[in-house]
Amino acid sequence: MNGLHESDAGVLLRGVGKRYGAVTAVKPLDLTIRPGSLVTLLGPSGCGKTTLLRMIAGLERVSEGRVFINGQDVTPLSAGERNVSMVFQSYALFPHMNVRENVAYGLLSVSGTAKADAYARAEETLATVGLAGYGDRLTSEMSGGQQQRVAVARALVLRPDVLLFDEPLSNLDARLRRSMRDEIRSLQMKLGLTVVYVTHDQSEAIAVSDQIVVMRNAEIAQVGTPRELYEAPGNRFVATFMGEASELRGEMTGPPGGQASVQLQGLSLTLPRHGLGNGVVGVMVRPESVLLSSPGEPGALQGTVATATYMGSHCEYTLDTEAGQLFAIVRETGTLRAAGQAVGIKFIEHGVYAVAP
Ligand SMILES: Nc1ncnc2c1ncn2[C@@H]1O[C@H](COP(=O)(O)OP(=O)(O)OP(=O)(O)O)[C@@H](O)[C@H]1O
Ligand SMILES: [Mg+2]
Repeated sequence: MNGLHESDAGVLLRGVGKRYGAVTAVKPLDLTIRPGSLVTLLGPSGCGKTTLLRMIAGLERVSEGRVFINGQDVTPLSAGERNVSMVFQSYALFPHMNVRENVAYGLLSVSGTAKADAYARAEETLATVGLAGYGDRLTSEMSGGQQQRVAVARALVLRPDVLLFDEPLSNLDARLRRSMRDEIRSLQMKLGLTVVYVTHDQSEAIAVSDQIVVMRNAEIAQVGTPRELYEAPGNRFVATFMGEASELRGEMTGPPGGQASVQLQGLSLTLPRHGLGNGVVGVMVRPESVLLSSPGEPGALQGTVATATYMGSHCEYTLDTEAGQLFAIVRETGTLRAAGQAVGIKFIEHGVYAVAP
C-alpha cells in the first residue's frame, strides 16, 4: 500500500482520475486531507471540482487510482458503504417531511436506527446547527439559510468520517453567505470535522480553509494554506485566481539559490527564486502592496498616475511605469493624486513574487 498505514486518518487520494469517454474530467492526482481539517477545492467552472468530490463520496466511480478514508481502501465501495455525507448546493430536502423527519431520514433508511432514537438524535443535531425547536416545521416554510442548516444537520446526524460540501452557499445572498460560511467553519472546528468543500469563490475559500487545492483544467495547480497561495503563489494562474495582481517585467540576477535579486528599472527587490533562472521574469504585485512616494525618490520605480479614484475607505490608482501598468489600492485617503502626476513607487515585499515570463 505504498507506505500507507491503518493509522493514516483523513482522506488519501492516490492517482485518482476520471474520464467520461474522450473527456478527461480529472487527471490522475494525489491529495492528502488531514483529519479534522477543512480543505477546499477551488477553481473555475468545469475544472473538475464536483467530479473529484463525487469520487470521494463514492457517487462517481474512479477511472483509475485508489481512494482511502481513515486508512481503509474504499475504492470499491458504493456511497452508502462509505461513512461520508454530502451537502448539495440545492439542499435536496424532502418538502413533504418536517425538519425532524428530514434530518432523521438517513438514520431510519440506512442504518435502521429505532424511530425514537433517530428523532432524538435529529433534535440534538438541530440544536447543534442553531435550529432547536424547529423540528415540526415543514422545510418549505423555512428561509434559505435555515434550509441550508437543515441540510447540514441531515449530513451531520450520520456522524460521517468526512463531510462533503458542493458549493453549499451559492443559493444564498451575499450577506447570508458570509454568516453561513463562518457558521460552517466554526462548527467544523468545534466538532473537529474532516471537511472537503467545493467553491469557485476565492474569498470564501480563503475565509474557511486550512488548505486550498487550486484546480485548473482537470488538475491541481497548487495546494497550500490561504496565506501561502495569496502571498506566494507558484504560478501566474494561482496568483491571479487568488486575488487581483498586476504583472510587471523584471530582470532576475544573482547566484542560484533561494533568493534572487530582481531589477524593476530603478527599483531593486529581493524575491524568492521559485526555481526561476536569471533573465526576464514576470513580477506579480498585489494592489495593497504598492506604496507611493515622491517622484524622483532614489531606489524607487518611477511612474505616472493614469487614473485616480476616491473609493471612501481607500483610493485606487492605475500607474504607468516602464516595467508595465500597475493597479494600486492605497489606504491613505487624505489627498487624491491627480492623473498625470509623477510618483515614486515601492512595494511591501510579501505581496510581490516572481513568475516565469
Ligand atoms: N457525467 C458526465 N459526462 C460527461 N462529462 C462530464 C460529466 N460530468 C462532468 N463532465 C465534464 O467533466 C468536466 C468537469 O466537470 P465538473 O462538474 O467536475 O466541474 P466543476 O469544476 O464542478 O464545475 P462547476 O464550477 O461549473 O460546477 C467538465 O468538462 C464536464 O463537462
Ligand atoms: Mg461543480
